[in-house]
Amino acid sequence: MNSRESSKMIVLIGLMGSGKTTVGRALAEHLNLVFRDSDEAVENLAKTSVREIFENQGEEVFRKLESQALVELCSKKSSMVLAVAGGAIISESNRELLKLNALCIVWLDAPTPTLISRTGRGKHRPLLDGDPVGSLNKMRLDREPLYQQLATHHLVTQSLSIAQVVQQIITLCSLEIVGNSENSAVR
Ligand code: S3P
Repeated sequence: MNSRESSKMIVLIGLMGSGKTTVGRALAEHLNLVFRDSDEAVENLAKTSVREIFENQGEEVFRKLESQALVELCSKKSSMVLAVAGGAIISESNRELLKLNALCIVWLDAPTPTLISRTGRGKHRPLLDGDPVGSLNKMRLDREPLYQQLATHHLVTQSLSIAQVVQQIITLCSLEIVGNSENSAVR
């Protein structure tokens, strides 16, 4: 059994606003697994918000903390649904780490207007402050090949409800819940 087969980590990747956190929480609840979000892990490490890290220390420091957070999350080797922030996959070592540890990696995708309508809800996205459409379009161009390369599955979500996305992920990744509600796992 290789480490991917023995891992119980379901990883969600995609651009800002693609629904990683919302879907990740719902998927984790459905599977009775722990949910983790890389931005939240960064904030716990830095003891400050993503926005403040960008504003006071810059993107480079943020990216280092992000890599550190991913190493810590992956080292837990426990069952979880992990939402990985949009830019974390730029780093080759982050991509390798995720590949090595994930049972499946789902790329959540939606057209830019859909992403824009969803990103208004988050304050942790300083990279969208000036020209969100232009920034997201550029990120799409730069990052799409990386999402494609890393993902085991690609899911376009804009016409689906959260419950439908959850169901599709379960089907695509052939996830099977084992155990009872107190001690469940996934395989
Ligand atoms: C970023 C995505 C954000 C957050 C930061 C930078 C990016 O996370 O990490 O604003 O570069 O795509 P979400 O993808 O969870 O919004």
